[in-house]
Amino acid sequence: MQEINAFQFFNKENAVKAYSDMYKELNFDIRYPANVKREEIFIELLKKYKPKKIIDAGCGAGMPLIDIKKKGFEIVGYDKAKNMVLEAKENLIKNGFSPDLVFYDDFEDPKEVKNNSVDCILGMGTFYYSKNVNKTLLNQKKILKKDGRLIFSLRNKLFDIITLNNYTKEFLDEIFEIKKLKKDWKDKYEYLTKNYTDRKKIKLEKNIDEEGIYNHVPHNPLTIAEEMSKLGLSVEGIYFYHFHALPPLFETFDKNYFREISWNIENPLDWRGFFLASAFVIDCKKVSETKL
Ligand SMILES: C[S@@+](CC[C@H](N)C(=O)[O-])C[C@H]1O[C@@H](n2cnc3c(N)ncnc32)[C@H](O)[C@@H]1O
Repeated sequence: MQEINAFQFFNKENAVKAYSDMYKELNFDIRYPANVKREEIFIELLKKYKPKKIIDAGCGAGMPLIDIKKKGFEIVGYDKAKNMVLEAKENLIKNGFSPDLVFYDDFEDPKEVKNNSVDCILGMGTFYYSKNVNKTLLNQKKILKKDGRLIFSLRNKLFDIITLNNYTKEFLDEIFEIKKLKKDWKDKYEYLTKNYTDRKKIKLEKNIDEEGIYNHVPHNPLTIAEEMSKLGLSVEGIYFYHFHALPPLFETFDKNYFREISWNIENPLDWRGFFLASAFVIDCKKVSETKL
């Protein structure tokens, strides 16, 4: 499948509207409000650190930015999808704020924000769309002041274990190093794992891989601190969200019930999040100017 860049996907009218609405309509019939949970995690961290100057990188339609602004924080945001920027400006006006709080920029190579000038950068569902995530993170670090915070969400690789589908199969193939096995063991293993359902055969809402949006492979929360330390970022906290009470297939049997029982177990600090949550937020502190 040919992949498109995320900002092109998010520039489409339906994506722009979805990102304006999803923070208003908490209706399990329409969608699972994972991003609302994500926003709560970010707001709790902001309340804890009280950073003076905040940037929302990839701010989308600006709804989280507006909520953060309403809580009294000094925040500006930018996006590479022009229609998202326009929508965010309209949403700001509707909420009585200046449209100039959002502007066009690219988090892979930001041009509009001065180096060493901000206390906190937020990435809500954003940086893993970069062609080179580590380079993007290093570019955010340049903009941060010393001891500044880079708080952003990532997709959870360990979630593949509990989906019990082709993602699980790929995960197991990788950790068991199946390619290296002798032929008859490979066959036995294939037999054992043959019942993992293939997502493509089930009517689920498309995920970002199936939408064909370019994105980085999910990250492993068990090794993320080590990975970030190589970039001069110290991981001070990991917070899980978008819990799945059961494998995603169950969502096709009774969408509302599935979403309700999943919502009830959302707890960013529950250890089960390592497996049941499809995403997590990491709270990083800039500790050095290390380059890769
Ligand atoms: C999943 S949406 C999240 C929007 C918003 N942060 C939220 O949580 O509601 C991802 C956003 O990142 C933007 N984006 C993708 N690549 C970008 C880039 N290189 N620079 C800036 N924004 C980008 C997209 O246009 C989109 O608005």
